[in-house]
Amino acid sequence: MVEMQEGFVNLWKTIQDYVPYEKNNVSWWTSCSMIVTGGLVMYAAKSILQMYWTRKSLRPLQDSQNLPGPSPLPIVGNCIPLSSNLYKTLYQYVDQPISLYFIASTPFVVVTEEAAVRFLCRKVLGSGIYQKPKYFGYRSSTIRYSVELNQKLALTNEQMRQQEADSSRKALKVMIDSKVSEIVNGMIDAVEAVVQSANGKEQVERMRQKLIELNLNVLFGYKSVKDVRSLSYIIFEAGKEFILRTVNPFRIWWRWVANLRFVQNVLSLIAIGRRVCQYMDSQPCTWVHGWVGKVGRIGKLGKVVGLIMASSQTVPTTCLWLLFLLSKHPQVIEKIREETFRILHSTHKQSIEEFTVVEWNELSYVDCVVKECLRLYPPFPLLQRESEMDDILQDVKIPARTPVYVVPWLLHHHPKYWKQPEDFLPERFISNASHGDAPSDFVYIPFGRGSRMCAGYHLALLELKICAVYVCQRYDWKCSFPQGNEPAMFPNISMTPDNMEMYFTLRRE
Ligand code: HEM
Repeated sequence: MVEMQEGFVNLWKTIQDYVPYEKNNVSWWTSCSMIVTGGLVMYAAKSILQMYWTRKSLRPLQDSQNLPGPSPLPIVGNCIPLSSNLYKTLYQYVDQPISLYFIASTPFVVVTEEAAVRFLCRKVLGSGIYQKPKYFGYRSSTIRYSVELNQKLALTNEQMRQQEADSSRKALKVMIDSKVSEIVNGMIDAVEAVVQSANGKEQVERMRQKLIELNLNVLFGYKSVKDVRSLSYIIFEAGKEFILRTVNPFRIWWRWVANLRFVQNVLSLIAIGRRVCQYMDSQPCTWVHGWVGKVGRIGKLGKVVGLIMASSQTVPTTCLWLLFLLSKHPQVIEKIREETFRILHSTHKQSIEEFTVVEWNELSYVDCVVKECLRLYPPFPLLQRESEMDDILQDVKIPARTPVYVVPWLLHHHPKYWKQPEDFLPERFISNASHGDAPSDFVYIPFGRGSRMCAGYHLALLELKICAVYVCQRYDWKCSFPQGNEPAMFPNISMTPDNMEMYFTLRRE
């Protein structure tokens, strides 16, 4: 201890020897600020060197040029443009097969070339040597710490149930097909709740809540008004912060209040996840037991929370975009009405509530409308993977543990793949339901591709189709944005419509 004290005193003296003033004139604060500045300069120099070497090591094999991408700043890399306008920043390099970005000094590459994505899909979006980063697929230390904290607080002596169940994704499809009328009623309930709301803000909120309620019920059989309310808040507030932190981890240093709220939200999400797990354990084996599989307590919690997030964030956001797009295209509404009427007529059914899965599958134009909406506004921003070992992609050496991202929005707006990429043209999916007028399946990926593709896309598509058909049949609605306040070409990072809650109105026809 004494030696340590002496060491500090000596260090302090040495520092004082180096300051350019007379010893007695140097205040404690001046010295401290010089130390901090020196530390920062050294850290900046280290980050510059690190980025320099990374850029050098990530060059194409046959080329001495760096990979394209915005020039990174010392310490922060490309965090500032990425977090202020993610899609705009990435779009600047849309015509480059592989581009390079830095979050602090950690690099990530974005792949946009169809041939590369096609080749990668087995390696990047499948399993192979590229895996999803840990913890719900995100690189968030707050989430990691919260999970670890929760792990310590978790109930002890809980008996893990090791039930045999069908874990295949097909089982989910079978389950959804068997619950079609429940899903139709849930969606109708959601739209009715929206109509009965007092104003635009409340409508958006009710839409979220009702869809979360529906999905918790369909997937887990779980019902809790209180949890639905908190989830609705958590998913949209913390979800946004969550993705912002993915591209800008420095937020943790200057958003003190938001940090506390974020940790609190994540803990509440985990608490809800735990309640759902407990509820699952008390229920007979269903699809969801099979999906979760035989994993430990934390693995199970992770899968349940992942499932809750995957289903709660995406569908309500897409529903809002769908209503917005339809309100701008009355001719599409007419076509939806015609198709619905034709099927009602040919099947001699009175209303869409009587439709079975066969009739929902026959609504091919509505299918195109939903797919086109997901092309323009894919709610999943980044598909993140990390290579487990060195690899070569498009002639570029990718060192092990380099994050490789595929960005659905970027591929869906690529001028090389789509005719009039910014226009809402559902007809483009008529001749080809899987990728529209684009050259291949690998540039239309709202649900991802490969073995880690969205498990719930049947459910999502069905819910969105029900929303479109029911609203077109029964309601007239408006999304009138004042001049200049329309959603911009580049949506925000969480893909939520910015001003929707102020201008969104539904009324009975
Ligand atoms: C419009 C709605 C939806 C969209 C656009 C969407 C999109 C996606 C995407 C892109 C992925 C892949 C992530 C990756 O590869 O890293 C994914 C994964 C997943 N989604 Fe969805 N999703 C939607 C709705 C749903 C719903 C309703 C469920 C509920 C069952 C669900 C459950 C899942 C699950 C469990 C995964 C993880 C699959 C895995 O890791 O193997 N999603 N989703």
